[in-house]
Amino acid sequence: MNKQKVLVTGGAGYIGSHACVELLEAGFDVVVVDNLANSKPESLARVQRITGKTLAFYQADIRDQAALTAIFAKETPTTVIHFAGLKAVGESCQQPQLYYHNNVYGTLVLTEVMAEANVKQLVFSSSATVYGESESPQYSEHFPLGAINPYGRSKAMIEDILRDLSTADTLNQAPNPWKIALLRYFNPIGAHQSGLIGEDPNGIPNNLMPYVAQVAIGKLPQLSVFGDDYPTPDGTGIRDYIHVVDLVKGHIKAIAALNSDKFLAGGCKAYNLGTGQGYSVLEIIQAFERVTEKPINYKISPRRAGDLAECFANPNLARQELNWKVEKNLDDMVADTWNWQTKNPRGYD
Ligand code: NAD
Ligand code: UFG
Repeated sequence: MNKQKVLVTGGAGYIGSHACVELLEAGFDVVVVDNLANSKPESLARVQRITGKTLAFYQADIRDQAALTAIFAKETPTTVIHFAGLKAVGESCQQPQLYYHNNVYGTLVLTEVMAEANVKQLVFSSSATVYGESESPQYSEHFPLGAINPYGRSKAMIEDILRDLSTADTLNQAPNPWKIALLRYFNPIGAHQSGLIGEDPNGIPNNLMPYVAQVAIGKLPQLSVFGDDYPTPDGTGIRDYIHVVDLVKGHIKAIAALNSDKFLAGGCKAYNLGTGQGYSVLEIIQAFERVTEKPINYKISPRRAGDLAECFANPNLARQELNWKVEKNLDDMVADTWNWQTKNPRGYD
């Protein structure tokens, strides 16, 4: 059988670069399309260093239909993993049009080009933020959706579009129907064990883990813990942190499922990618102090608008249907974050 070729949109970014490593190591050919809006080409140089393999890179915007069409014609991929997107919740509230244009319109262009090229196998980066309010903090895929900010709504809209494409193929009895996995990530953290690739946020980080890492290394003076009066055991927010390498392995498993009999007749299905275990902000701080032997300077601050008290995954569906489970624990996540941070105090610069 010919080697399968995977086109990775957003492959130079945090999760995409880790996915490229796993894909190359699993024997796939890899083509990256990224406009470098939130990444640097150095990440891809490091991917090739880690794996000793090469990939093809095109600096292009997924909204550029002509460029994308030419790339598909030249590369003839069999599958697409679609990471490209903007992801800052606060920015999405200030610039909603940018988010809908980049994320939603970008996905429309991508799927049009894919359909034209008859490449109809897609793994999409969705997010736990698509879920609405629920009675249980442990989210299953059938729980009601109800994103509360433009970023989350852009993901929910894309999920709707992709489901509609799949339904239309069933109605039309399409000979090569769409096969789509919607992967809903919980909170990806950590870095590749080599310390060569990791998360390189622009400016001051919004997310907990890169913030803690920058406090530990002395780049930022103090962490603000957003609220200690939540109805959780220690009063701070609980999330399901997942090692980025475990997360990207879920994508390889998703490709295998899309290639299997399970998706023979096509379909579009959502899967949670989380560990199923929640940790509080204070537990994260304690784990960081334990693993790095560095004190973390923090203060309790008011709650951040839009934050839930507690959110973690029910990962059973991915376990059963994708044959996927996590292998790394919280200490691995912290140790790998710290390894990346200390080896690259200025990120890829
Ligand atoms: P990232 O910003 O590091 O990577 C996204 C990549 O997409 C970047 O390299 C960026 O340059 C590229 N990109 C953005 N718009 C593009 C466009 N129009 N054309 C081409 N390239 C474009 O983010 P990440 O953390 O690696 O996230 C990857 C995906 O996973 C995103 O879709 C994000 O929404 C989703 N996600 C991330 C998290 C998280 O916490 N990191 C959680 C849930 C879902
Ligand atoms: N937190 C702090 N201080 C900080 C940053 C965060 O106390 O400086 C707290 C938050 O209040 C929350 C927890 O740490 O309780 C995690 O916050 P993050 O910002 O790291 O993550 P979120 O769960 O808010 O959101 C993340 C991504 C979203 C994504 C979502 C679900 O930012 O894009 O996970 O996948 F959609």
